[in-house]
Amino acid sequence: MKDLSDYLRSIPDFPKPGIIFRDVTSILQNADGFKLAIDSLLQKLEGVEFDVIAGAESRGFIFSAPLAYKLNKPLALIRKKGKLPCETVSASYALEYGFAEIEMHKDSISKGQKVILIDDLLATGGTLEASAKLIEMLGGHVEKILTLIELLGLHGREKLKKYNVESVLSFE
Ligand code: PRP
Ligand code: HPA
Repeated sequence: MKDLSDYLRSIPDFPKPGIIFRDVTSILQNADGFKLAIDSLLQKLEGVEFDVIAGAESRGFIFSAPLAYKLNKPLALIRKKGKLPCETVSASYALEYGFAEIEMHKDSISKGQKVILIDDLLATGGTLEASAKLIEMLGGHVEKILTLIELLGLHGREKLKKYNVESVLSFE
């Protein structure tokens, strides 16, 4: 049987020389690959009790939505600034050059709810750290942070020390 890594294409020197880009489109383009990705994430949630799935824009949406559907849980969207129409909380985080800001609707999580935070990939951890902050600003508890891919060399986990972080595939 094929392993999830068999479906993941790695592109050298994208977007810059020296970077090996782990390209999730190659998983999505293959029905068996996408199914295996979702099933692998589901396996990591077996026996975990929680109330809400939160997904980080945009690639995080692809993986969080099927989990919410399959586990019959609400889906809270973490969006880039300016996209959400109702009252929001926001947090900014560092990019390689400059800053980005993300937002959540205030009513997407209620006080005391247990939240599973999903993204496709953990790199420096900036996105997920800011995402977890938003969940906490709304009174939610980050029960687990789950990604499909983790780039170990960027040490994102160190920013997320206080959370339970799991990934399906990891690369140096
Ligand atoms: C990518 C990826 C993660 C984030 C990881 O998203 O999908 O969300 O970067 O990087 P970090 O751990 O260093 O924060 P990107 O911001 O490129 O947006 P996209 O999903 O819309 O492509
Ligand atoms: N792949 C996809 N997204 C990314 C990567 C990568 O290797 N590094 C940072 N964001």
